[in-house]
Amino acid sequence: MAIRLSVNGKTHAITAPPDTMLLYVLRDELDLRGPKFGCGLSQCGACAVLSNGQQIRSCVTPVKNVKSAKIVTIEGLPATYHGKRKAAQGHLHPLQQAWIDHQVAQCGYCQDGMMIQAASLLNSNPRPTEAQIKSNMNGHLCRCGTYFRIIDAIKEASRVMSSTGAKSGAKR
Ligand code: FES
Ligand code: FES
Repeated sequence: MAIRLSVNGKTHAITAPPDTMLLYVLRDELDLRGPKFGCGLSQCGACAVLSNGQQIRSCVTPVKNVKSAKIVTIEGLPATYHGKRKAAQGHLHPLQQAWIDHQVAQCGYCQDGMMIQAASLLNSNPRPTEAQIKSNMNGHLCRCGTYFRIIDAIKEASRVMSSTGAKSGAKR
């Protein structure tokens, strides 16, 4: 029987075998290209997605392990904050806006995973200190070296989200 998987607020009947890694289901079956293949070994973070609001590595997660979870990819992040209607109108999640405002990305390959990790952090700790941000982001690699701007962008998103009293969501 096909696995049913909740991704970005929609339930999908998955045709891939249950042991298939979530990353391949997202990219190849659901056409969600935000999560990237970097190492395939849970060591770089490029494939990160949210599972019930917390970051997981989709390259080492069999799809059968998350069939009861609510998965959010970078494509679904705006709706977790603004709701579906505003997200469809193009409103970005505060993390995405801060990433633009701080001109974080260079090649961009790692950045989807970085924002997912940041969303996971702000879900559990809405006002992290710089030390907490560094510690939390430690498992994500950026070969372009954008780390300082990432820290600034997370601080900015944290300020914006705290001032509106909203959470980064992503548990929906
Ligand atoms: S591709 Fe998953 S952690 Fe590197
Ligand atoms: S922006 Fe190029 S790897 Fe991070």
